[in-house]
Amino acid sequence: MAQLNILITGGAGYIGSHVAKQLLETTTHNITILDNLSTGSTKTLDTLKTMREFNFIELDLKEFAQVADVLNTNNFDTIIHFAASIVVPESVENPLKYYMNNTVNTTNLIKCGTDAKIKRFIFSSTAAVYGEPSEVPKDGIDENYLTLPINPYGMSKLMSERVIQDTALANKEFKFVIFRYFNVAGADINYTDDKLTPRIGQSFPNATHLIKIASECATGKREKMAIFGDDFNTLDGTGVRDYIHVDDLASAHIKAIDYLLENDSDIFNAGYGRGYSVKEVIETMKKVTNTNFQVDNAARRAGDPAALISNNTKIKTKMHWSPNHNDLALICQSAFEWENY
Ligand code: UD1
Repeated sequence: MAQLNILITGGAGYIGSHVAKQLLETTTHNITILDNLSTGSTKTLDTLKTMREFNFIELDLKEFAQVADVLNTNNFDTIIHFAASIVVPESVENPLKYYMNNTVNTTNLIKCGTDAKIKRFIFSSTAAVYGEPSEVPKDGIDENYLTLPINPYGMSKLMSERVIQDTALANKEFKFVIFRYFNVAGADINYTDDKLTPRIGQSFPNATHLIKIASECATGKREKMAIFGDDFNTLDGTGVRDYIHVDDLASAHIKAIDYLLENDSDIFNAGYGRGYSVKEVIETMKKVTNTNFQVDNAARRAGDPAALISNNTKIKTKMHWSPNHNDLALICQSAFEWENY
């Protein structure tokens, strides 16, 4: 297989670092990570360095002239673009931060990329582009479902999707894969002496994600947690989400690199196509970690839909992606072991 020159923006972050790990461990591609280290971690970069050599550029994507310079001088074949702001409530309070960091910076990256004749672009989008589905179809939300984001975060990503699509329409040399992530969770599946020992994981401070919070409770870092709403129209009344292990999401990106060498641009949901309730997740976390912690009932969080479950037929049939860690217990266990590390 050809050796490619790949740029990963946000490669020191949670999902980007898992993709970098797989590229370093399972391919011979040349890897460059570009990150401003605002939420990405130098410890993660040090861990990645123990796997294989790569280039690191500390840079904020808002530094347009320097970004252009990096792209013009490196001859990248593919850009995988993760760097973004991702906290929904913050996006409501500070929408311009999201439109600048996500939409404007992505637009500039594409402008610089196409000027530098870069042909392939892989983009992290989100199930948040689907907004608050009035009703989840029986076999999940597919890629043609109405996109109607209900917060600036989702809209900043949807606008970026549009910029990418329009660019590809006008420029036949430029191809893309857009992934719409469902609920990403868990940490590096790595075993030492048969014990699960994740080397990288989610380090973002003040996390709001359910599995991260439950793992913090299981380790004792957090005393208790709350269930945000138990009167949804779901089987047990709590919110239902499609949790995907971060290593499976990462493997979809590795597939996308080769997919784009042979196939046309496309948008893919990334999820397992089945949902678990908040109660099921908390019970699983308690069970696999053999812990107990206080769980209170609280009011619904603004903008939380009852259920979000992907239809993943397209990624399975067109990209031939198949998950290896479709197991809520393993997702919870790996999040816990990373938290406990
Ligand atoms: C998250 C992200 C969103 C991203 C989406 C898909 C946030 C706020 N949302 O959505 O940007 O697009 O994943 O990747 O970061 N819950 C509790 N108690 C808690 C925390 C959560 O009950 O302490 C519930 C929520 O109400 C929800 C479920 O758990 O029903 C999942 O919540 P969360 O992990 O925050 O993810 P989402 O909001 O679904």
